[in-house]
Amino acid sequence: MANRALIAYFSLSGATEKMADILQKVTHGTLYPIQVVEPFPDDMYKTNDVAEAQRQSHQYPDLAGELPSLKDVNIVLLGGPVWNGHPSTPLLRLVEEMDFGTVPIAPFYSYATDPSNYAKEIDGLLGNHSLASLGMPDKVVDKTNKATAELQKWWDTVRQK
Ligand SMILES: Cc1cc2nc3c(=O)[nH]c(=O)nc-3n(C[C@H](O)[C@H](O)[C@H](O)COP(=O)(O)O)c2cc1C
Repeated sequence: MANRALIAYFSLSGATEKMADILQKVTHGTLYPIQVVEPFPDDMYKTNDVAEAQRQSHQYPDLAGELPSLKDVNIVLLGGPVWNGHPSTPLLRLVEEMDFGTVPIAPFYSYATDPSNYAKEIDGLLGNHSLASLGMPDKVVDKTNKATAELQKWWDTVRQK
């Protein structure tokens, strides 16, 4: 079967979105931006407070629009930023809402300086769906050639034959 990648991602300030756009070109997959009904505050510290409260209470934000279809999809690339060392709450909501069936999921994420235990946490969350993840500092995301090379290399390791 040909590779049919769904690239589902949340991005607040554009870094993960850039990774997703590169991945779309590399994989020829379908993009699905995760969108929230209620916007986060402009201030990142306030966003952090809102998100931490959501995370600790397991009250993840409502998502706008329809959930993505998994028809003909044979891999999900699931992206988002690191927030306070954890997956962002819109991404947690998508994982909560979706039934991925047996489709494997490869997580990718962007961060500023410290991804903390993001990889381990998302791996635990996705259980046996989870393939190797790729984290990228936002400074690397800015360097299009380097970012593209890293994303291509990662895709070559996770793509379904
Ligand atoms: C609420 C919030 C919390 C963040 N926490 C972390 C963190 O714990 N570690 C880190 O390295 N970067 C942290 N960052 C920076 C983002 O992870 C980083 O800028 C990322 O590339 C943003 O992705 P986006 O542009 O797709 O939203 C945080 C940013 C925000 C807004």
